Amino acid sequence: MDEIPNDASPERIEIARPDDWHLHLRDGALLGRVVGATARCFRRAIVMPNLDPPIVTTADALAYRDRILAALPAGSHFEPFMTLYLTEATTPSEIARAAASTQVAGVKLYPQGATTNSARGVRGLDGLGPVLEALERHGLPLLVHGEATAPDCDVFDRERVFLDETLRPLVERHAGLRVVFEHITTAEAAAWVAEAPARVAATITPQHLLLNRNALFRGGLRPHHYCLPVLKRERDRQALVRAATSGDPSFFLGTDSAPHTRRAKESACGCAGVFSAPVALEAYAEAFARASALDRLEGFASHFGADYYGRPRNEDRVTLVRGDWQGPETLGAGDDALVVFLAGEALRYRLQDGSAARG
Ligand code: DOR
Ligand code: ZN
Repeated sequence: MDEIPNDASPERIEIARPDDWHLHLRDGALLGRVVGATARCFRRAIVMPNLDPPIVTTADALAYRDRILAALPAGSHFEPFMTLYLTEATTPSEIARAAASTQVAGVKLYPQGATTNSARGVRGLDGLGPVLEALERHGLPLLVHGEATAPDCDVFDRERVFLDETLRPLVERHAGLRVVFEHITTAEAAAWVAEAPARVAATITPQHLLLNRNALFRGGLRPHHYCLPVLKRERDRQALVRAATSGDPSFFLGTDSAPHTRRAKESACGCAGVFSAPVALEAYAEAFARASALDRLEGFASHFGADYYGRPRNEDRVTLVRGDWQGPETLGAGDDALVVFLAGEALRYRLQDGSAARG
């Protein structure tokens, strides 16, 4: 990360408890290892459905939700909201079932082949008309992994090409469709969301606020900074910081915390994903402090996502305390360790003990 500039950030910041509107929790043993890191800080999270096999029905989502609740550390007070994975076989009646469940917050669109466990994603939007109309009718948001997948499309252009060729026309075609452009990474995406109607929103990750693509190659290949969509140029990072700190309610917190073991990351074909949950709020606070915009953190982290998803804002509060802090470098040890975002780098705020989301 860059040097911390001359700094007049306050000793303590108190904000309404935040929520994470884009999260990967996995399943089985890995779920049990990671869910506490999110529950320490966030009250609620939208949990992504890209398991293997994916969560494609409301029944799958509710069963997965039960497994998440069972894996929580004792005393946690954390509420997962679920998503369905859109496939070419998804039906309007499945959308109606999802919309009738207060536990399902949206349906996730993965272009086929775009990222982890996206093999059953959609090849295109042709043929999805009735399902998209059902989403529109029920007011259920479509959560979009926005990257073009044509093999000859440059990896750094994938978001921009998807926006031009697919997302912009989709939003124009479906005048009532609610769309969250997930983990945006480019100046073009931020500008489009800012201009789009209020039914269009975007999440922004901590790594895209703090790092540009140089971080992938600093002194050698850095697999723990590799995620999808990949980090972009410095001008893109700056545009994302401006969007997140603008006070525009279209932009809100979604970590995209995506754990993979060290073995899977440090490999000849490493997996995409940054595991940020153990330091997520602190990393966002760092980004906002660098932009001298800590007064805008609460809206981004704790208000705008809840408003967009029609949920009440959290009433309890958390405190971030100033003081150099190094987050944990890993969860676990050896090849199965999960390397944490920023692995031990200094952060200027830390969530106060006792702020963990416990009941
Ligand atoms: O980096 C990523 N990791 N991007 C995604 O879209 C998926 C995620 C994962 O599930 O590992
Ligand atoms: Zn994700």
